[in-house]
Amino acid sequence: MKELSLHLLDVAKNSTAAGARNVSITLEEGADGWLAVTIADDGRGMSPEFLAQAADPFTTTRTTRKVGLGLPLLRLTAEQTGGSLDIQSTQGVGTTLTARFQRRHLDCPPLGDLAGTVALLIQGSPEVELAYRHTTPRGEAALSTAELREILGGIPLSEPEVFAWIQEYLTEQEIETAVEAVPSTGIEGEII
Ligand SMILES: Nc1ncnc2c1ncn2[C@@H]1O[C@H](COP(=O)(O)OP(=O)(O)O)[C@@H](O)[C@H]1O
Ligand SMILES: [Mg+2]
Repeated sequence: MKELSLHLLDVAKNSTAAGARNVSITLEEGADGWLAVTIADDGRGMSPEFLAQAADPFTTTRTTRKVGLGLPLLRLTAEQTGGSLDIQSTQGVGTTLTARFQRRHLDCPPLGDLAGTVALLIQGSPEVELAYRHTTPRGEAALSTAELREILGGIPLSEPEVFAWIQEYLTEQEIETAVEAVPSTGIEGEII
């Protein structure tokens, strides 16, 4: 996928599809260019057998249960940057995905529109409690539906105005905390 935010949208939808009441999305960027993305939910989880398949469908045969491509594509993107995808899941308890990316790697997609993605997720599943946090060496962008509900009083999170508000509120924070992740050319100061 062209942007990491699209992967995020895709896998966060897995969480809501799994009946999660609480979803947390955390992005942690280090000064060394490593980005850890963690999506944790309290959905129905996966059995060990299914998990083995979902994480690595390319090793299964045609007669096995059909699995989607969201997780394998995320894994591929992470591994192409030298990173990894780790999935912990317990049936009836929940699932935690951790994807690691090296943002300075030439094959690492840009972050994309994180603010819009969070706004879309909240609008799409207004009954779910979502906690979002993106930390970088410059600061953090964060928003949770719990604090949003307090700010908005009785206004439903599915309202179009709320979508616009979330996007604007988070975009401002994202701009302030953004770190450049221009792939290294090996030539100091070169303009690409
Ligand atoms: N967070 C999750 N909780 C429970 N099951 C999950 C979760 N993420 C993925 N799965 C299971 O793994 C399957 C494959 O996920 P994915 O690769 O995103 O493909 P798709 O969503 O198109 O089925 C899902 O259909 C679902 O059964
Ligand atoms: Mg999916």
